[in-house]
Amino acid sequence: MSTQDELASIPGLAYMDGKYLPLAEATIPIADRGFLRSDITYDAIHVWKGRIYRLREHIKRFRASMTGLRMDLALTDDEISEILVDLVRRTGYRDAFIMVMCSRGIQPPGTRDPRLCRNRLYAYVQPFLWIANEEQRRRGLKMVLAKTQRIPSEALDQRIKNFHWLDLTMSLFEAYDRGAEVTILPLADGTVTEGPGFNVFFVKDGVLVTPDRNIFEGITRRSVIEIAGDLQMRCEIRAVRGAELSAADEIFTATTAGGITPVTEFEGRPIGDGKPGPITARIRDEYWRRHDDETLSTAVSYE
Ligand SMILES: Cc1ncc(COP(=O)(O)O)c(C=O)c1O
Repeated sequence: MSTQDELASIPGLAYMDGKYLPLAEATIPIADRGFLRSDITYDAIHVWKGRIYRLREHIKRFRASMTGLRMDLALTDDEISEILVDLVRRTGYRDAFIMVMCSRGIQPPGTRDPRLCRNRLYAYVQPFLWIANEEQRRRGLKMVLAKTQRIPSEALDQRIKNFHWLDLTMSLFEAYDRGAEVTILPLADGTVTEGPGFNVFFVKDGVLVTPDRNIFEGITRRSVIEIAGDLQMRCEIRAVRGAELSAADEIFTATTAGGITPVTEFEGRPIGDGKPGPITARIRDEYWRRHDDETLSTAVSYE
């Protein structure tokens, strides 16, 4: 298959440093440090039934990531939001996935000084993405505890959303080699963090628990913590060890790309009775119900 054929099958619309174009035609210059050095940050947002979920919070987090990497765009938060709303409107998609990125940009010839680059905004909108396929969502994911350690926040503050994904990606190969589908990555001290593109929760004796350190602080995770509060369910945010996951009654992942997904196998053994658990289902249903709450989302005007 040619590159052109591969790209042609990608639906969506992009905004590349001021220009709108079909996602299949969107490219970044090879000299952009976003490509050469992973010198880029991003945020992932979703649209559900024509409304953008927690847009303001995503943009605030995107701004914090940019500030953390000492990047800036000549755009206010409202202007960035308007570009994204406009992109969604142009696609007409009611259920969609938005990527918004700020790249360091191109360095002038003869220097490697990142301060001299003009930071660039890239964004695109695609039909909604699920991290797990339909069958996996129904039966639950198979997870293993990776041997690959998560890049420590002492080296790269993991609250900054980044494309330094090789720890996450290589952990996936471990999962596939062991007949599983997803991973959770440990730190050197044996506590666990998160997986490739998601935060993790587990349930033990009715109490919800999620790791507190070296993680990207997901908006879906935030939604789950709020839901737990509203359902008067205890939620502990603390250091978690792999052995606790093995002994859990339920485990689930939380991410923008698909919401809450049950994990029904950990390290080759069933979690609970090996079926998606009732607390996971309750939180998942409540998560999707909140998408009707107009205070949590921004309507896209498609006319
Ligand atoms: C490493 C990592 N952790 C957690 C998350 C979940 O964040 P959110 O719920 O905001 O999508 C993501 C999402 O992309 C991620 O990449």
